[in-house]
Amino acid sequence: MRHNSLSLLCHRPASSEITPERVYLDRRRWIAAATASLAFRGAARAAEAPPLAKLAATRNARYSVTDTASAYEDITSYNNFYEFGTGKGDPQRNAGTLRTQPWSVTIGGEAETRGTYTLEDILKPHALEERVYRLRCVERWSMVIPWIGFPLGDLLRRFKPTSNAKFVAFRTLHDPKQMPGQRAGWLEWPYVEGLRIDEAMHPLAILVVGLYGRVLPNQNGAPLRLMVPWKYGFKSIKSIVGISFTRSMPPTSWNIATPGEYGFYANVNPAVAHPRWSQASERRIGASLFDATRPTEPFNGYAEQVAGLYRGMDLRRFF
Ligand code: MTE
Repeated sequence: MRHNSLSLLCHRPASSEITPERVYLDRRRWIAAATASLAFRGAARAAEAPPLAKLAATRNARYSVTDTASAYEDITSYNNFYEFGTGKGDPQRNAGTLRTQPWSVTIGGEAETRGTYTLEDILKPHALEERVYRLRCVERWSMVIPWIGFPLGDLLRRFKPTSNAKFVAFRTLHDPKQMPGQRAGWLEWPYVEGLRIDEAMHPLAILVVGLYGRVLPNQNGAPLRLMVPWKYGFKSIKSIVGISFTRSMPPTSWNIATPGEYGFYANVNPAVAHPRWSQASERRIGASLFDATRPTEPFNGYAEQVAGLYRGMDLRRFF
């Protein structure tokens, strides 16, 4: 039953130390060397996985927070990606079956230009930026992630949305052969999400292709995902193959599954509790015990930039 499967969303995060990527990579090299010299190859297998390709991007300080970034290890091993299982470690373990090349994205609906494009064509005109954003999950954990991407609005404008385009709908790949979790019924597939057009055009909403200076790992939504930092993590849909401009509010996966618990807007709001738990605080993954629990901020700390989008709306009703 879907409602029960959502309880799985509430695992207690494992605590671990903050590990900057440089230290992490050095440690990986050290482990690889030590284990090879001991001819202890089995244990070294994970440490020897080839690193993902580097991705050049300039840091956009204006749109970056100054919080300490979470460890690469945590960002890539503590994930929600139900297409690969409901456990936090499942995506890292299972997402190797996802083929991210070739990849195409279909853009349709209320726009003058429509069609199916290769990922290369989608990315070509856009300069990549690094932006350090907070990610707050509805399960009350948070991380700080140096994403690499570009503004979603810049892409959307290329397709010249008509005046009928009031919303933007997003769709993840649907292929149970590559995404074994889609053989289970814990969500309706494909995973779908949506934004109001003005939210989608906001400069903080980005499409992501990498993190920590490298190509996006499969478990984080390769090769192309959304990142909307003022909303709960579930809005930031992964492995996107479809973008469509719509007249009316599009369906969204968690709202289909449990409408009483997950609304369309899903703005981070410490004043509006989830029906089964408070949203007033969160646990920063990887932070020290003393620093791990912190109050959740309205709009995940981005209120100054985005609160105006919701002026006059009752955010208790439109959760
Ligand atoms: N996108 C797809 N296609 N499938 C998913 O299960 N999970 C969402 C979101 N995007 C999800 C998804 C949830 S609940 C969260 S919290 C974030 O992805 C997690 O992103 P991360 O694993 O990169 O931290």
